[in-house]
Amino acid sequence: MKSVVEYGPGTGAISRQLLKRVGEQQKFFAVELNGNFIPVLRKKLPELTVFNESVSDIRHICNREGVDWVDGIISGLPWTAFPESLQKELLEATLSVLADGGQFVTFAYVHGLALQNARRFRARLREAFSEVTVSPVVWRNLPPAVFYSCRK
Ligand SMILES: C[S@@+](CC[C@H](N)C(=O)[O-])C[C@H]1O[C@@H](n2cnc3c(N)ncnc32)[C@H](O)[C@@H]1O
Repeated sequence: MKSVVEYGPGTGAISRQLLKRVGEQQKFFAVELNGNFIPVLRKKLPELTVFNESVSDIRHICNREGVDWVDGIISGLPWTAFPESLQKELLEATLSVLADGGQFVTFAYVHGLALQNARRFRARLREAFSEVTVSPVVWRNLPPAVFYSCRK
């Protein structure tokens, strides 16, 4: 993968793991809306490039960064908590930057899987991507979660 983006790094638990895996030849940055997390991330992970912006602007951010297409997106966004219009807006923005064949990975907590928003999000993923796989429940995660791995 040439370019990898993390959505919603929060306090950086996933960013730390991603930083270990991305190579020097790869472009990697994170997009975090909540400005309170930015100083935390800069202190904890000074090597992380993070933009204090919204994923809804990901096309603009990629243009500015000279990235035509993103090969992999790892999302920590709380999709189930988002209203339908925001789920749609952020997924459309995602599709506008993800390369054909590119991978989009996100997760959902098991306790929320039956909620209407969660079901709608799953349906939207199936519409938007050519392939969607759902992991077995990761019980070691607190709270337990499943991961969606989607191919454009
Ligand atoms: C569940 S937390 C992620 C937790 C993170 N993986 C960690 O280890 O701390 C979700 C994050 O998504 C961010 N977020 C929510 N909406 C966003 C948006 N539109 N653009 C970018 N980040 C967003 C929140 O501010 C929050 O930091």
